[in-house]
Amino acid sequence: MHDLILGIETSCDETAAAVVRDGHEVLSNVVHSQISLHARWRGVVPEVASRSHTERILPIVDQALQQAGVSPQDLSAVAVTHRPGMVGCLLVGLAAAKALCWRFDLPLLGVDHVQAHVHTGFLADPDLPLPALALVASGGHTALYLVHAPGRTERLGTTRDDAAGEALDKGASLLGLPYPGGPSIQQAAIGGDARVVDLPRTLLGPDSLDFSFSGLKTALLYTLRPQGSDAPAEVPTGERLRDLACAYQEAVVDVLVTKLRRASERHAVRSLCIGGGVARNTRLRERLTGDPVLAALHLVLPELALCADNGAMIASLGSLLLREGKRAPLDLDAVATPQSGGKAKVRP
Ligand code: KG4
Ligand code: ZN
Repeated sequence: MHDLILGIETSCDETAAAVVRDGHEVLSNVVHSQISLHARWRGVVPEVASRSHTERILPIVDQALQQAGVSPQDLSAVAVTHRPGMVGCLLVGLAAAKALCWRFDLPLLGVDHVQAHVHTGFLADPDLPLPALALVASGGHTALYLVHAPGRTERLGTTRDDAAGEALDKGASLLGLPYPGGPSIQQAAIGGDARVVDLPRTLLGPDSLDFSFSGLKTALLYTLRPQGSDAPAEVPTGERLRDLACAYQEAVVDVLVTKLRRASERHAVRSLCIGGGVARNTRLRERLTGDPVLAALHLVLPELALCADNGAMIASLGSLLLREGKRAPLDLDAVATPQSGGKAKVRP
């Protein structure tokens, strides 16, 4: 059975739509990033984000359909992110998806954004060897999953405080680098020496697969302005900025790689895939491909456009939901929290 799914994503600061055939053939993938709107606040302002989604959503959907060369009547269904995210933002995508479904009599599919990042492994490689280990590292979430089958995931660990991307965004802000912090720290770290500054790696005990990044951020703050000092914080430049950015990035990457190694030693996985904005990081990719244990697995490092928020991953997971008969009602709600509240087994 073939399907053609329109995927819509508006949970954070990307207005995105894509058309995907049979869950993995990306016919179009259109993303409008709001970075320039939020840069001066060094973070996403919910009200500004939802207003911008409202202005952009219809042209972006139109563009995705046009680039794919399809009309709404050709679609099998519309998949939309309905959780987790900023509710005002989610509502914009939901309203567009519902209107299309109502007008063209199409099934509506409600997709969990974090599960869609996990599912990117199947979008990038439909033959992903299973079971797989999946890392989702973004601005809002950092979690490890054991993937038993498409859509059947078990959360192994998650962050207890900041997400990895959030730590990079906050660290960049302390270093005087622009938002978003991940790419600016990556850029600033080029040519730096990570050994110059000793920053902590919080591993939360020998067995833990959870993450914690708030101590790292505080350690950087105290490096720039010693604890108890009244002096203004140092604003590093030149070689010092390179070294600090490099050390900070290395500390974040070290924790991610260490947890992946732990998980791979504990679970007999055949492959490893990564998703979320932080999965774009060059140093993380280098460390994964250079790691003797992790590189022995089938590594899926999706193209950069599929790591950041996008509509293709939503359409891809939507295709699975359609095949499983999981249609959503037209009064589907926007929900701020992810599907997996605890360490329970979760399904999309
Ligand atoms: O998945 P995403 O686009 O949106 C969320 O769902 O949060 O992730 C955004 C996060 C931001 O924190 C950003 O700083 C980080 O991904 N990011 C990166 C890179 N590109 C984006 N982090 C490290 N290296 C990058 N190249
Ligand atoms: Zn995301």
